[in-house]
Amino acid sequence: MIGSAAARVSITGLGCNVPAKVVTNDDLSLTLDTSDEWIRTRTGIRERRVASQEEALSDVAMPACLAALAQAGVNAADLDLVIVATVTPDMTFPSTGAILADRLGAPDAAAYDLSAGCTGFMYALAQGYGMLAGGLSQRALIVGGDLLSKLLDWTDRSTCVLFGDGAGAVVLEAVDSGGFLAFELGADGAGGANLWLPGSGSRHFDDPANLLKMNGREVFKFATRVLVSSAEAVLDRCGLTADDVDVYVPHQANVRIIDHAAKKLGFPDEKVVVNVDRYGNTSSGSIPLALQDAAADGRVRPGRLVLMTGMGAGLTWGSSLIEWTKEMAA
Ligand SMILES: CC(C)(COP(=O)(O)OP(=O)(O)OC[C@H]1O[C@@H](n2cnc3c(N)ncnc32)[C@H](O)[C@@H]1OP(=O)(O)O)[C@@H](O)C(=O)NCCC(=O)NCCS
Repeated sequence: MIGSAAARVSITGLGCNVPAKVVTNDDLSLTLDTSDEWIRTRTGIRERRVASQEEALSDVAMPACLAALAQAGVNAADLDLVIVATVTPDMTFPSTGAILADRLGAPDAAAYDLSAGCTGFMYALAQGYGMLAGGLSQRALIVGGDLLSKLLDWTDRSTCVLFGDGAGAVVLEAVDSGGFLAFELGADGAGGANLWLPGSGSRHFDDPANLLKMNGREVFKFATRVLVSSAEAVLDRCGLTADDVDVYVPHQANVRIIDHAAKKLGFPDEKVVVNVDRYGNTSSGSIPLALQDAAADGRVRPGRLVLMTGMGAGLTWGSSLIEWTKEMAA
C-alpha cells in the first residue's frame, strides 16, 4: 500500500518510557555462552531494559502516554481514538488500547490493539492518519510498545540478546501545514515463519513452547532489503530524494542492518538516528524511542523532513515521511 497524505495531520506530542532495570551484555554472559564483544560487534547492542514480572505493557506505556498528551496540551478526555501497536498486550483481551483509554480517562475514544510485529508503530501511525484524514477522529493517541522479554527463550543466545522492552506514544492532530507527506506499508506472509511465536493463537502446535523463534540470517536479508526499498518507494512517491531528508529514523534492530540501509540510501552518519546500543530491539517501541532521542539532540525540530522505516514479524515493513511541526524543547 502506498499513498500521499493529502490532509495535513502531524505529531503534536511525543512521550516514551522504558522499564528501570538495565541488563548489560556482561550480565547476559553470566548465564549464556556469549560475550559483550560478540553482541557488540554483531549487533551494536550494549544493554537493554527488561520489565519486572509485575510490569505489563500498559504499565510501561502509561507514562509515555501522559508525556505525549502533556506535550500536545491535549486532555485525555478529548481523545477519540487510541491505537496500541504491540505483540505483547497485557492479555489477548481486553485490548491494551481499552485498558489504557480507561486508565488515562478517555471514555469517548475508540480503543484497540494492532498487530504488525516490529512495524506496528508505522502501521498504527498510518491508521491514525487515515482516521483523522477521513474525518472520523480529531485527536488520536498512537502507542507503540512491547515487552518482548516476556516472550524470549532466555536460554537461546541467538535471540534473547537482541531484544529489549520499551514504549512510546504520539498524539496526532490536524495542523495548518507540514505533517505527514506519505506512507508505504507492506507484508510478506510467506516469510512469516522466519520470526514467529508458534502456539500463541488458535493454530495447534504439538510442542510450541510459546517462545519467540527466529531465523536470524533470513530476517537479516529481509531487513536490509525492505529498509531500502520501502524508503525509496515513499521518497519516490513524494518526488523527493535522500538528499531532501534531514533525519533518518530506521527501526532499531541491529546496527549492521541500519548501517547497510543508510549506506545504500546515501545517508551520512549525522542524519541517522541510532540508539539500539542502549535499548536493543524494542519492537514497536523502537521508532518513537529513536524519535525522542533525535528530538532531544535537536535533530528533530519544526521544518525538518523525517523519514521513518520499520520492519519486523509478518514479515512486514512500513515507511512514512513527515515534515515535523512541533517544537520539542522541554
Ligand atoms: C541474529 C544475528 C545477530 C546473527 O548474526 P550473524 O552474524 O548472522 O551470526 P550467525 O547467525 O551467522 O552466527 C554465527 C555464530 O555465532 C553464534 N552465535 C549466535 N548468537 C550468539 C551469541 N549471542 N553469542 C555468541 N555466539 C553466538 C552462532 O551459534 C554461530 O555459531 P556457529 O558458526 O558455530 O554456528 C543476525 O543474523 C541478525 O541480526 N539478524 C536479524 C535479526 C533481527 O533483526 N530480528 C528482528 C527483526 S524486527
